[in-house]
Amino acid sequence: MSKTIGILAGSLRKESFSKKLANAVLNMAPEGFKFKVISLADLPIYNQDFDDNHEVPQAIIAFREEMASVDGIIFITPEYNRSVPAVLKNALDVGSRPYGKSVWDAKPAAVFSNSPGNLSAFGANHHLRQSLVFLNVPTMQQPEVYLPKVNELFNENGILKEGSTKEFLKKAVDAYITWFKKNS
Ligand code: FNR
Repeated sequence: MSKTIGILAGSLRKESFSKKLANAVLNMAPEGFKFKVISLADLPIYNQDFDDNHEVPQAIIAFREEMASVDGIIFITPEYNRSVPAVLKNALDVGSRPYGKSVWDAKPAAVFSNSPGNLSAFGANHHLRQSLVFLNVPTMQQPEVYLPKVNELFNENGILKEGSTKEFLKKAVDAYITWFKKNS
């Protein structure tokens, strides 16, 4: 049976490079796998009262259901102030509750970070990994995926240009799939 991998991009920006990378990765699914981009655009900020009062916004219920239905996750994160953008951290928090019903538990993941700068969102990549340890998300170690100068990678239609970064990204996706098969 085919496996589904959810792709989460940590940006809401219309012209987000992370979202463009997510679309590029979407087209790299190998046979037997379905990749789907899961939007964070409508996700409210988590409030623990939702769980205590059982007054959970519909968008949160829908997100939890969608995440529960995927078998693995590829996180594509930019960096805000040397850490994970709030929209992605919020998604982790939303999916982690109610207590004992986390949608993340044991789902094999990969982290791809990117930045227009040279440091490739290293800080966000590793802050994200810190949360993933706690959430019991086994995360691919190698290859590490840090994409610098991301603003130079797309053509005028927002499509990832042919070249070494695209080749590396494809290799990283293939490595994730090989690793996923051993860890799921
Ligand atoms: C940034 N940016 C940024 N870049 C970086 O490499 N390290 C950082 O710590 C930060 N911090 C930061 C904070 C805030 C609030 C903003 C808005 C931006 C720049 C960031 O990499 C750039 O805006 C990316 O284009 C954001 O990713 P998306 O939206 O293109 O996916």
